[in-house]
Amino acid sequence: MTKPIPRPVASPQLTIGEPLQFPADDNAVEGPIVVSIACSPEDDSTAVPLAAASALDAASGGVLATWLADGNASGKAGEICMAALPTKDGSVATVVMVGIGDVDELTRDSLFRHGSAVIRQLASQPRSKIVVAMGLDVPSKFHDALVAGCLFGCEGQAIYRQNPSTHVGDAIEFSGVSAEMLTRGQTIGQSINLTRRLVNEPPSIMNPTEFANRSVAMASEVGLGSEVWDETRLADERCEAILAVGRGSASPPCLLKLQHAGGGDDQPPVVIVGKGVTFDSGGLSLKPSEGMVDMKCDMAGAATVVGVMHAIAKLGVGLNVIGLCGLAENMVSGDSYKLGDVIQTRSGKTIEILNTDAEGRVVLADTLDVAVEQAPAAIVDLATLTGACMVALGNETAGLMTNDESLCNELTDAAKAEGEPVWELPMFKLFDDKVHSKVADIKNVGEGRWGGAITAAKFLENFVAEVPWLHIDIAGPAFADSPKPDRDAGATGVMVRTLIRWIENQAN
Ligand code: BES
Ligand code: MN
Ligand code: ZN
Repeated sequence: MTKPIPRPVASPQLTIGEPLQFPADDNAVEGPIVVSIACSPEDDSTAVPLAAASALDAASGGVLATWLADGNASGKAGEICMAALPTKDGSVATVVMVGIGDVDELTRDSLFRHGSAVIRQLASQPRSKIVVAMGLDVPSKFHDALVAGCLFGCEGQAIYRQNPSTHVGDAIEFSGVSAEMLTRGQTIGQSINLTRRLVNEPPSIMNPTEFANRSVAMASEVGLGSEVWDETRLADERCEAILAVGRGSASPPCLLKLQHAGGGDDQPPVVIVGKGVTFDSGGLSLKPSEGMVDMKCDMAGAATVVGVMHAIAKLGVGLNVIGLCGLAENMVSGDSYKLGDVIQTRSGKTIEILNTDAEGRVVLADTLDVAVEQAPAAIVDLATLTGACMVALGNETAGLMTNDESLCNELTDAAKAEGEPVWELPMFKLFDDKVHSKVADIKNVGEGRWGGAITAAKFLENFVAEVPWLHIDIAGPAFADSPKPDRDAGATGVMVRTLIRWIENQAN
C-alpha cells in the first residue's frame, strides 16, 4: 500500500524581535504586525491604551490613535481587528489588533486562545513573517501562554490536504517577550501539537507499532529513556489483558515506557498512564458507523502522555517521571476476544468480558499494574474511556475520579491555573459491587448504563493497589467535531498544559 505523505508538523521559526520600532529605515518590519491592546475597565473609547501600538502610532503620524479613537477597536477580549496603516515612508503596513479585555481579568488560557485565534485568522493567505508585539500591560508570567497559543494555532487536522486552505507563516517574531518565556512557550506549544498530530493521523497509519516507533524516536531526540514491550515480552510479563484486546487485530499490541530521570535516585517517580487504543471498532460488540467514525482518537490518553513527557524532558523538570502507554487496536476477527471470556490480568485478578467495547479499562488493567510496580508517589491515568462521561459533563470538560482527594485537588488547581475545565465525579463505595462478577473477580461493565464513567473508574481502581491515583476521562474534550476561531476541529491536546503544570508543581 502506498501511504499518503502528511504535512510536517507546523514549526515556524520563532524569534525574539527588537522592541517595536516601526518603520526603521534600515530594517523595516515585513509581514503583518499583531499588537495586543487592552481596554481599561471604565473604557471611554478615546482612552484605549495603545501599549505596544504606540510605536506604530508614531510611525503613522497619529493615524492609528485617531482611528482607534473613532471607536474602531474597543479592546474587548477576543476582538480581532485589522487595519491598513499608512506609514511615513509611503508604504502600507497591516496591523492586527487583538483585544485582551481588562488586564486584571486576563488568564493564561485567554491569552493562549487569543494567540491561536489571531494566527488562524492570518493563515488565510501565505505570509513570510508575522510580528507579534506583546501589550506592555500583559504580565510577563503569562507570556509563554501567548507563544504556545500562537504555535497551537499553526497546527490543524488538514494534514493530508494537497492544497491546504490555510497557510502557516514561516516565521513568527515576538517583541516584548523574554528569551526564557519564548523557549518555554515554544516547548509547551510543540508538545501539545505533538499530541494532536499523533491523534489526528489516520488509524491505519497510527497503529500501536507506529505510535511506539515515533515516540521512541522523539524520546532519543529529547533525552528520555524508552522501552517497548512487544507481544513476546507482553506474554513473558503476563499482560494477558493487553494481549486479549489486541488479538483481533493485524497490528500487534505493545506497551511503551518513557522515562525522565530528573530527580534523585531514591525519589519515587510520578507515573502517567495513557489509554492507547489506536482504533476502537468495539470488537465483537461492534460499534455502529456513527459511533466508530472518530475512534482513531481513542489513543488520545497515550498521545497526551507522550506530549507531556516531551515537555518534561525539554523543560528539564527536576522530578522522576515515567510515562506508560498501553497500545492496542480493538478489531473484529476470528481471533477476537469474546463476550464471556475470562482473562487473568498481570495483577492476578481475573476479569469477565461482557462487552468487548469496554476495552480501554481492560488495556489499562495491565498498564496500571506495571505502573504500580514502579513504586510510584502517584499515578495519573488519561483515557478516552466512556461515552457516559460525555453524557455527564459534556464535550469540553474532563472527568476526574480518584482514591486520593488531595491528589485530585492538586490537579484541579493546576487545571484552573491553565484554564482547562475539569470536574470530579464521586467514587462512593456503593459503586464497588457494580463491577462484581459471578464467574471472575470483576466484570468489565457496570450494571446497565447508569454511572458508566464511575463504574469504569471503579474497575480501574482494582489495579492501583494503595497508590494515590487519579483517573482523567477525556472522552469529551480530546477530540472536537467542529472548528472554533481559536482551534481547528480534531485533536485538541487537552490536559497537556495541566499535566505539565501539575508535574512542575510536584518538583517545587
Ligand atoms: N472509546 C470508547 C469511549 C468513547 C466514546 C471515547 C466516545 C470517545 C468518544 C470506549 O472504549 C467505549 O466504547 N466505551 C463504552 C463502554 C460501554 C460498552 C460500557 C461506551 O462508553 O459506550
Ligand atoms: Mn470501546
Ligand atoms: Zn475505547
